[in-house]
Amino acid sequence: MTPASRQKFTVPKLLEHKKAGQPVSMVTAYDATFAQLADIAGVDVLLVGDSVGMVMQGNKNTLSVTMEQMAYHTRMVANAKPMSLIVGDMPFGSYQTCHKDALTNAIQLIQSGAEVVKLEGGIYMADTVAAIVEMDIPVMGHVGLTPQSYHRMGGNRVQGRGEGNAAGSRQRVIEDALAIEAAGACALVLEGIPLDVAEQVTQQLSIPTIGIGAGPHCDGQVLVLHDVLGLSERQFTFSKAFGEVRSVVIDSLSSYVKDVRARTWPDEEHSFH
Ligand code: KIV
Repeated sequence: MTPASRQKFTVPKLLEHKKAGQPVSMVTAYDATFAQLADIAGVDVLLVGDSVGMVMQGNKNTLSVTMEQMAYHTRMVANAKPMSLIVGDMPFGSYQTCHKDALTNAIQLIQSGAEVVKLEGGIYMADTVAAIVEMDIPVMGHVGLTPQSYHRMGGNRVQGRGEGNAAGSRQRVIEDALAIEAAGACALVLEGIPLDVAEQVTQQLSIPTIGIGAGPHCDGQVLVLHDVLGLSERQFTFSKAFGEVRSVVIDSLSSYVKDVRARTWPDEEHSFH
């Protein structure tokens, strides 16, 4: 059960946290079960991320995730009725074509239970962010390593190290962040960038930055749920397993298999008479 004292985390609270210097905690969630557990644990923001394509579907990147799938996972998370703020990720192809598509798809995510939509991109996405914000739909931006730019980046690679002003350069990451704030975003994910770039962006923005692989100076942190739990097979350098759920799951299932094979399950106590 969510503690009775817990209040709903809302969009205005993002800004309040920034002003008060209070860190924002965010994890991904893809279903009602884990949304409820994260809510009970006191997580501020649940991101229904398009990382669902890799984490749950086993794809090598996020590019094949559809609007239908994002709406489905958003509904599952919303069904947990969490006190955490629900952010729904706009998948690749759902907002790049034109403002009308972006608005239609943002509305679909909100109708599925998202309270904020998130989209990737900087300067070239600022108009799209502004168009959605003008319709009173809060937007969270996402710059730096943007997984939907997988092919441009040559894989999921750290950004913000290069000179010049090309996409992925240090200067460009900063300009992208400023453009997304100016467009009206309520918060900004900074992914896969050097910690000093993240620090500079965080100091320059008045909206909270939420980092993943962006060091300790961001206003908040986000990690993929399965990584936090220690459920993933692979551990990334920037991530941390705060639990050992993978071994707990394997041990529990091994015990079940053993008992079924030994015919010690089900026993009298767990049978109907
Ligand atoms: O989809 C996702 O999980 C994300 C996070 C990595 C921020 O966008």
